[in-house]
Order: sequence, then C-alpha cells, then structure tokens
Amino acid sequence: MSKYYVTTPIYYPSGKFHIGTAYTTVLADMLKRLKVMQGYEALMLTGVDEHGQKIEDKAKEANMSPKEYVDIQAEAAKKLWKTMKIDNDIFMRTTDEYHERAVQEIFEKFLKQGDIYKGEYEGWYCKPCESYFTETQLVDGKCPDCGREVKKMKEEAYFFNMKKYARKLLEFYNTHPDFIKPEYRKTEMINNFIKPGLEDLCVTRTSFDWGIKVKSDPQHVIYVWLDALTNYITALGYLSDDDSMFKKYWPADLHIVGKDIARFHLIYWPIFLMALDLPLPKTIFVHNWIMMKDGKMSKSKGNVIYPEQLIERYGLDATKYFLIREVPSSQDGLFSPEEFVQRYNYDLCNDLSNLLNRTISMVNKYFEGKVPEYNGLQNDVDEDLEKASKDVIDSFNREINDFEFGNSLKEIWNYISRTNKYIDETSPWALAKDEENIEKLKSCIYHLVANLKEIAILIRPLMEDTSDNMLRQLGMSNKVNWDTLKEYKDIKDTKVIGKGEPIFMRLKEDEEIEAIKNMMKQ
Ligand code: ME8
Ligand code: MG
Repeated sequence: MSKYYVTTPIYYPSGKFHIGTAYTTVLADMLKRLKVMQGYEALMLTGVDEHGQKIEDKAKEANMSPKEYVDIQAEAAKKLWKTMKIDNDIFMRTTDEYHERAVQEIFEKFLKQGDIYKGEYEGWYCKPCESYFTETQLVDGKCPDCGREVKKMKEEAYFFNMKKYARKLLEFYNTHPDFIKPEYRKTEMINNFIKPGLEDLCVTRTSFDWGIKVKSDPQHVIYVWLDALTNYITALGYLSDDDSMFKKYWPADLHIVGKDIARFHLIYWPIFLMALDLPLPKTIFVHNWIMMKDGKMSKSKGNVIYPEQLIERYGLDATKYFLIREVPSSQDGLFSPEEFVQRYNYDLCNDLSNLLNRTISMVNKYFEGKVPEYNGLQNDVDEDLEKASKDVIDSFNREINDFEFGNSLKEIWNYISRTNKYIDETSPWALAKDEENIEKLKSCIYHLVANLKEIAILIRPLMEDTSDNMLRQLGMSNKVNWDTLKEYKDIKDTKVIGKGEPIFMRLKEDEEIEAIKNMMKQ
C-alpha cells in the first residue's frame, strides 16, 4: 500500500485559533481523507509549537508557569480539532521529552560538523515573529513579515552556516519542480532571499529562558524555529528508540504552510535536512490567507471570527466548505458575512440540498421510493449528462493535483448545477403524465440518483457528515471509497427514505448577516 504523510504547521498555542488559522488544518484534513479514500496509508500531523519568548510572555500575563500555560492551550487546541472532526493521527507537542532530546542531539551534531558556530549577534528583533532582521530587510523601519515594531538587540549567539548550503538548495529547487507549490513562491524565495545572498541564521537566544537548552552550553536556548521545524521528523520517532514510523513515512509527501512562514519552510528547513543528510519533503504547498474586508483578522480591529461560532450556527460542513472554497492559490481569499450567507443559500441550499430533495420526492411520487435501474440512454440529453459525470471526476482530480482546492469544489458545484439543469431539460413531471414515456422517466430519475451518489462521494473528503446524510436518504451504504466512484452507476434494489430531509435550510439573509457581524464584535 502506498503511504502518504501530510503535515500542518505546529501552531503557537498563544490564544484562540480563528477561522484563518483553522484553514491550514481543514485543508490538511481534507487531503488526508481523500488519500485514505483512495487507498493510501495516510498519516496526518498537527500540533503545537510551545517554546519561545512569545509564549513565555503570554504565560506571565496569565500568571502561570509556561508549562502550565501551554498545557491548557494544548488541550484547547485538541478540543477545537475534535469539534471540527479533524482526523489527525499525531498531535505534536514540542515540550515532549523525546522531542527536546532529539533537538538537542541535532544541535550538537550541527556543532560538531561545523554547521553551527559561535559568534555575536546584533540586529533588529521582532518579538511576535521571533525573528532578527538586518537594517535592509526592514520595511519602513518595521518587521517585514508582520509590520510591527522591531527592537535593536545584541547578544552572544550561535549561528547556522546557511551560506554553505545556498548553492545546493538552489540546485535542488531547479531539479525538483514539484518541491514548491505554487511555482511563484519559489521565484519569491530565489529573488528575495537566495540571490541577494543568504545570511547565516542566528539559532540560539540568551534573552529568555523558555525553550530547549543547548546541551553543551545551557545558558543558550535553541531558536524556536530550529526546535519547531524538526517536529516533522521527531514526531515520527527520528533519533528515538523506535524510529519505525520515521523509516516508513519520511520523506513527507506534503507540508502545508501559510504564506507568512514560507521562508522558514522553503529555505531553512530544507537546509537543516541537508545538514542531517536526510531526504527532503516531496512538496511544500504555500497557501494564501483568509482576509477580512478591512485586512487581517485581529482582535483590536474587532473583525475576528472563531470557527466554533460559525459551526454552532451553520454547522461544520458549511464552515469548512466556505473556507476551502474561498481561498485560491493565486491570491488571498475574503471572508465577509454577505459572502458566507450567499454561499450557504446558493451553493448549499439551492443547488445541493434542493437537488437531493427534489429527487427523493420524485422517486417517492413516481416509483414508490424504489430507484429504477439503468435502462440506457432514453432522453435526448442523457448522453451529455453522462459525459459530464465522467468529466467531473477528471476535473476534480486535475484541480487537486494543481493545488487549486477552491476550484476542485467549483468543479463539483458546476456538476451539481448541470444536474439541476437536467431536471429542467427532461421535465419529469411532464413525462409522468403519459404512460408512453415511462422509460424516459425511469432514465431521468435513475440518472439523478446516480449523480447524487457520485456527488456524495466527491464531497466526502471535506464534508463527511453531509455525504453520510445524502447516502442515508438515498438508501445507500456509506461504506464508499474512491473506487466506488467508478461504480456510482451500479444502483440496484435501492429504496430512498419516505420523505426527504433538507440538509441545508435557506437562511434569512439580512438576519444572518447581522448575526455574523455580531459574532465579530464578541
Ligand atoms: O506560524 N488565513 O504558527 P501560527 C490562513 N508556530 N491561514 C492563516 C491565517 C489566515 N488568516 N492566519 C494564520 C506558526 N494562518 C508556527 C509554525 S511550523 C514548524 C511552526 C496560518 O500559529 C499560518 O499561515 O502563527 C500558519 O500556517 C498557521 O496558521 C499557524 O500559524
Ligand atoms: Mg503566525
């Protein structure tokens, strides 16, 4: 069986996760489930990145020890992923002992190899990003990553010799076209960081305490990014007594990361792996962000939405659908209450829910709930519809392979619209009036049910509850996988439920827009 290892970044457990942060995890979860349905032995990693000054400060604010603080936060993160039915196999915590030991060992190895050396650091430090910048890297005197204030700091520190690996990295980029997706992120890295000359990276701190100590020089704490990035391998048991998972699953098939942390994953991480003489991940996908009309989500702007709020009012699947649908790989996606309610009403209610409902009521009305079996192409448009049924699988796969996840949903919804249009084209209510047209009517109803079965399978990696609900109402088993797609037309002895239950009910637009706006104020 083929294996598939997909990761999210490990999150800073420094507050509640908003819908933007949930995006990475929802996407990773969808891809893991897709791979499982396709027969892979898939493994998904998420977790928390618990060290560093930011966490130390937050703990102080909360009057707790850092460990007490992260213990609570890690539980809150786990709870959110449970609410969102995220199917991660590993929940990584960087305060776990086996991880700390492995990071120390890696650091000592780098020292011994001469990849890490001791020096003195002076630079502009951005606390929220835990990053030093040179004068020229600053944008208007502020942090180039987050735009916040930076402070001049000086300390004795260890450095990683990035320069030594710059050529090798560039060569790797050029010989591995699938390594960075989308392509333009590679160009950004080359133009902004590699061509101007890679700076050596400061990999220790002495200005605070909360982190993994350098074994041979414990006054120094290991830089949180060196600590965090290695989680992708320590989580699999690298450098532990049992590294069977590491042997099986490394290299990762896919790291999913947001655009703000592209540099760490596309430059430093591959270089660390080269220094460890380990294979590099097959693909790193950099996604864009969910933005609000007035820019980034932030508490101070009063425009933050938490996933729990949307889930409570609109359900899990509607929330996940919106997130994945709205972020293209070419630019940021936008969250607005208006857009959310419209997507809900048009895509989920009008298009999907109504198609199921109309179909079930016709199976009941015309055939006492029993789905007619395939009787060939009876209506003028049947051939065209069957072609669309084939094409949607190809176009879905194409968009997934192109990392255009929003478009993969768009393709399914185009197909849902095509199927709705088929009802108008065949007018089953007119066919039902004349016994002569019974074969045409059978073919029409059969095709609708077959398409719904296909749709239930295609949406399943993202919307499992909805898929279950559709299959149950259609009287079908939910033991389906990607092979079932090839057999979606094998419908025999199927009886739909007596009365369809709407899966999504139309929202009152103005009321719900108000409701979402109120969520943002909380
Ligand atoms: O960066 N839209 O953790 P983090 C989409 N600990 N994605 C968003 C987003 C938005 N509005 N806001 C944040 C860290 N994200 C490090 C990672 S990995 C070895 C260490 C994404 O909690 C962000 O891009 O700040 C990142 O992928 C994830 O949320 C976690 O961010
Ligand atoms: Mg962040």
